[in-house]
Amino acid sequence: MGFEVKNINRMGVEIEGTFNDTMYLNLHLRTGYRVLYLVKSFKATTPEQLYDQVCHIKWEELFEKDGYFSIQSYVKNDFIYDSKYANLKIKDAIADRFVREFGVRPNSGPDIDKAVLFLHWKLDECSLYIDTSGETIAKHGYRKIPFKAPMLEALAAATIQASEWDRKSSFVNPMCGSGTLAIEATLMAINKAPGLMRDNFGFMHIKGYNYAYWDKIKKEAEDAILESIPFKIIASDISPEALKVSRMNAEYAEVDHLINFELCDFSKTTIPEEPGVVMINPEYGERLGEEEELVNIYQQIGDFFKKSCSGYMGYIFTGNMNLAKRIGLRAKKRMEFFNAKIDCRLLEYELYAGSKRTEK
Ligand SMILES: C[S@@+](CC[C@H](N)C(=O)[O-])C[C@H]1O[C@@H](n2cnc3c(N)ncnc32)[C@H](O)[C@@H]1O
Repeated sequence: MGFEVKNINRMGVEIEGTFNDTMYLNLHLRTGYRVLYLVKSFKATTPEQLYDQVCHIKWEELFEKDGYFSIQSYVKNDFIYDSKYANLKIKDAIADRFVREFGVRPNSGPDIDKAVLFLHWKLDECSLYIDTSGETIAKHGYRKIPFKAPMLEALAAATIQASEWDRKSSFVNPMCGSGTLAIEATLMAINKAPGLMRDNFGFMHIKGYNYAYWDKIKKEAEDAILESIPFKIIASDISPEALKVSRMNAEYAEVDHLINFELCDFSKTTIPEEPGVVMINPEYGERLGEEEELVNIYQQIGDFFKKSCSGYMGYIFTGNMNLAKRIGLRAKKRMEFFNAKIDCRLLEYELYAGSKRTEK
């Protein structure tokens, strides 16, 4: 999005920007979880030092007198065993400052649909942020009904972004479940910003946020949406219930008219002549005994790729590498992803005619 990256770590990507930029990111990011805005970094080795540092921040400039805030944290050090105690110290520091300034105690609690703070405290390094997203932006707001093991919207978007799909050619999603991959692909193809599908963000509860700027960038994002696409996006599933759910989710995202839904076995899915990407997220047998039943399915996916998807780039997203071997085709790339705590792979196959088979 044109921001200079200052730092990348396991927790996230650090960039420099204004509070207005956080609104832009909340509106447009497809793969983020939350957008944090740094209020202050400092050192602390005791809960009392944390309290003192937080006391000195001008909270009355950030929160309304009658507002409500919530605190979340990640704490890893020997000074404190329960992160809830750190949250309590922050809450006390803010409340005491409010009492001094206004003579009233602010409202606070666990709800994250208003102002939200986030503390990151590792060893003696503390960073206190405003969570400008509030509720996570990893959910894109259209999935009202989940089906079996749905992918998180941000994860689905990330796998598509990691693929070779150019947003201008066929996208085929057999075994679509609740339709997440097909819906995310369509949203990308028509350039619809995910933030347009929700109306509450953490930044809206920060005093003096620039709502004129928010209106402006929302309007620009709406104007940028394409009405149609000159290629096919196909979602299929063997379960009528899955298809019903997919259609409804696509309706909520206002893209149902742009997706062809098919009720069929994955191997019978229409593959448009103009190649593009075929992406499948099969079940991967998290419980004992299930793996055995899936062996055949994975073998059949390999056959389907080889026989029906010539010229396409094929992708399998799975958390079971034993089963992945049963596909029997040579993966060109294996990309690592975490689905919650499950170590998963996005496997990429180049499906030219006569793809090489490997030993099972
Ligand atoms: C893990 S779910 C897909 C979840 C999906 N990515 C989502 O985000 O909702 C796997 C799907 O495969 C479907 N399925 C299982 N066997 C199938 C088959 N032989 N043909 C087509 N679909 C099948 C199931 O009905 C289920 O919806």
